[in-house]
Amino acid sequence: MSSPTTPDVEPFDAVDVIRTKRDGGAVAEDALRWMVDAYTREYVADSQMAAFAMAVLLNGMTRDEIRVMTDAMIASGERMSFAGLGKTTVDKHSTGGVGDKITLPLAPLVAAFGVAVPQLSGRGLGHTGGTLDKLESIPGWRAALSNDEMFAQLRDVGAVICAAGSGLAPADKRLYALRDVTGTVEAIPLIASSIMSKKIAEGTDSLVLDVKFGSGAFMRDVDRARELARTMVALGTDSGVATTALLTDMNTPLGLAIGNANEVRESVEVLAGGGPADVVELTVALAREMLALAGQPDADVEAALTDGRAMDAWRRMIRAQDGDPDAPLPAPRETHTVVADREGVVTALEALPFGVAAWRLGAGRARAQDPVIHAAGIDLHVKPGDRVAPGQPVFTLLADDEHRFARALDALDGAWTIGDEAPARSPLVRERITA
Ligand code: URA
Repeated sequence: MSSPTTPDVEPFDAVDVIRTKRDGGAVAEDALRWMVDAYTREYVADSQMAAFAMAVLLNGMTRDEIRVMTDAMIASGERMSFAGLGKTTVDKHSTGGVGDKITLPLAPLVAAFGVAVPQLSGRGLGHTGGTLDKLESIPGWRAALSNDEMFAQLRDVGAVICAAGSGLAPADKRLYALRDVTGTVEAIPLIASSIMSKKIAEGTDSLVLDVKFGSGAFMRDVDRARELARTMVALGTDSGVATTALLTDMNTPLGLAIGNANEVRESVEVLAGGGPADVVELTVALAREMLALAGQPDADVEAALTDGRAMDAWRRMIRAQDGDPDAPLPAPRETHTVVADREGVVTALEALPFGVAAWRLGAGRARAQDPVIHAAGIDLHVKPGDRVAPGQPVFTLLADDEHRFARALDALDGAWTIGDEAPARSPLVRERITA
């Protein structure tokens, strides 16, 4: 006679956890840890986790619940450590925006001060571009590194921008995909725990967050962006990662280039001591924050941009990943320039439609498996506040196929305006948030 097998007994019930959150209660630590673990094991069904995510969206989470949720997602995968590196590590995370290429000049700039910058990045989906997509416009450049290669590059070069391995916070990967299709992406506790679980699992000593608000940002509203920033700063701090955040304006695209290859070109201009003022301003502001957390509050960041130190670090970083920093970048086969129809001053360039238009031109992808067209995107010729004459170029669309221009131009209908009065200037960096 065969002996009966006893099924493993689960210590909690997903329905109880869902009901607690639905009714506005706080879920006990062990129950919440179990929920995340059981979801990762596929014991808790997508439908149950979706109901739980909706209850969180509607009723929120306490600071303690968010900490436990984050911790449980970290525990679902590998945790990296740079302890043997002999250098302090500092990372930056941006919530994403249009023309946001700041990671490219920032990582080598900070590394030029002897600090290690491990930037585990992603590919873009939707209207905000992905850092890896941009760098992949450089001939030969390789995004996938082993942990040993990453460690060696951090030791020898100081900066590494590479693909985040699938081992970091796998629970988040499942949950994020589920939130995407259940209208629950916007829950601040879930965004904060999603971002911070990956950053804490990465093992950085300190972290600077660029939390964007405005039309081209994930959070349109500055108050919600502030709440997200405060939640993430608290999470990092509670986990022993020194964390600060800047709240930055994403109503207008950053810089003049929106795309991939053209954003690399603009980043190199910044590393050569030039580049658009807003890109330089944000790069310098974030570098100062990162270096302050790394114990160098008085570092002369601007000098490293103008004297070639940051550029040297960039060239070594690109070469270490088999890229050729001197190779020509892909150029578009077709271009279409839009000109001003009157004299006046540019009063607005709305970030979101420009992001959508660049995406429709092929710079971004609609599905995770789609390729991006590296030469596609938009070059702006003016920014809000600039005076224009009739016939003067305002922006140029870049694509490999002229049939893409019509849909991009549809997205841009009403997205830019020329008026008589210069617009009020609003600061790019709105607030600094510390623990
Ligand atoms: N980015 C993430 O990694 N997670 C979110 O929930 C939102 C943005």
